[in-house]
Amino acid sequence: MRIAFLLAVATTLLAACSSSSSGTDVSGLAPTWTNVYSAVVAKKCLPCHATSTGVSLGKLDLSAKDKAYANLLNVAAQGSSCAGQGTLVVPGQASSSLFYQKVGSSPPCGLTMPFQLAPLSGSEKNLIKEWIDGGAKNN
Ligand code: HEC
Repeated sequence: MRIAFLLAVATTLLAACSSSSSGTDVSGLAPTWTNVYSAVVAKKCLPCHATSTGVSLGKLDLSAKDKAYANLLNVAAQGSSCAGQGTLVVPGQASSSLFYQKVGSSPPCGLTMPFQLAPLSGSEKNLIKEWIDGGAKNN
């Protein structure tokens, strides 16, 4: 009886811990643009980058998959904090791509994205990194 109770408490605590950890586990997904867009961008970036602040301040419209791809690939940053500070996606070079650098804890310009939301999980960041390092294909 007591053991069953302790087990129930432990299970509840474990569940609470995993649901409160930031971001979503996307480690099973292949690093394609389709997966980056649907699993990360559509869920975490559109509150702003489809309307209002992200488009007006960030100057980055990610509201549809093809539009987002065209607005990222080899495009120079134009937003309020990052204009003149780099390129959004440099195919093959996540470490030089602001689209990846800005989801890290110390971006070279402006705020960590997603602004005002919980930081991305390690696997969400990694999905973006692997997609860019793999050539940032429109796949
Ligand atoms: C709550 C609103 C908000 C959310 C959510 C958000 N952004 Fe932003 N974003 C902004 C604002 C405001 C700026 C301009 C200031 C800055 O660059 O820090 C910006 C700027 C950017 C820029 C720089 C664009 C440029 O050309 O200068 C990138 C890249 C970016 N965001 C990526 C993302 C990604 C990726 C996500 C989702 C993981 C995201 N943002 C979610 C508001 C948001």
